[in-house]
Amino acid sequence: MIAIELQGRKALITGGDSGLGAATAKSLAQAGADVAITYRYESKAAEQVATVVQSFGVKAYAFRLDNISQKEDVDALFRQVDQELGGLDILVNNAGTDGPRALCADSDVAAWRQVVEIDLFGPYYCAREAVARMGRQGRGVIVNTSSVHEFIPWAGYSAYTSAKAALSMFSKTLAQEVAAQGIRVLAIAPGAVKTPINANVWQDPKGLADLDGKIPMGRVGEPDEIGHAIAFLCSDLASYITGITVPVDGGMLLYPDFRQGG
Ligand code: BGC
Repeated sequence: MIAIELQGRKALITGGDSGLGAATAKSLAQAGADVAITYRYESKAAEQVATVVQSFGVKAYAFRLDNISQKEDVDALFRQVDQELGGLDILVNNAGTDGPRALCADSDVAAWRQVVEIDLFGPYYCAREAVARMGRQGRGVIVNTSSVHEFIPWAGYSAYTSAKAALSMFSKTLAQEVAAQGIRVLAIAPGAVKTPINANVWQDPKGLADLDGKIPMGRVGEPDEIGHAIAFLCSDLASYITGITVPVDGGMLLYPDFRQGG
């Protein structure tokens, strides 16, 4: 039987207190990994995720990371990782934000910059720390959470789409740099998944119908469907996959409007 086996692996997931991060924490724990999550404000939610992780018989850690776009905060996080985990095999750069919706000409410069700093600089700061540690042990996997919007333009979210497209090329370039050290680097591109980031859309019947219409499979995804994909990508079953963005999107990238006509 083939199974996803992560026993003995140590994983760090940023933004693990909700949404895709929380689901990923569960999936990695189910596959046997010890899991550390970071959170910014929601210590209660982080504790709940840690309890779920522990229920699979593995170790759980919840670290407060104040600002992922501040290098000093990320450095402090990795000192905690060194002290408490004593190694790192898996980094899931999950923490992110889509920012306020505004057309480019109307957008607030500081808000635009903040999205790029969280969605691009955050993963960069974490990845450089992770690579230093993984390189020493000769193995590791980094998964960067991109979006279908690294491919699909999205009016009103130019900072988000730009940051995700940049994160994709960052992943590829880093993958090229570290492949010989036994480190794989991937990006994952979730489509529309039921998480807090888009709850205002999928909780509204009209918004949900509009979203479903953009997805050939006809339904919004569940967080576990992303968590399980990440667990697979982090496992040795995916040992020959690196430097690519893997869409997990129910077919959202398939130009569904071309099902008819054209
Ligand atoms: C966004 C969601 C959106 C999805 C599909 C994701 O990157 O965070 O809000 O529903 O893309 O458009």
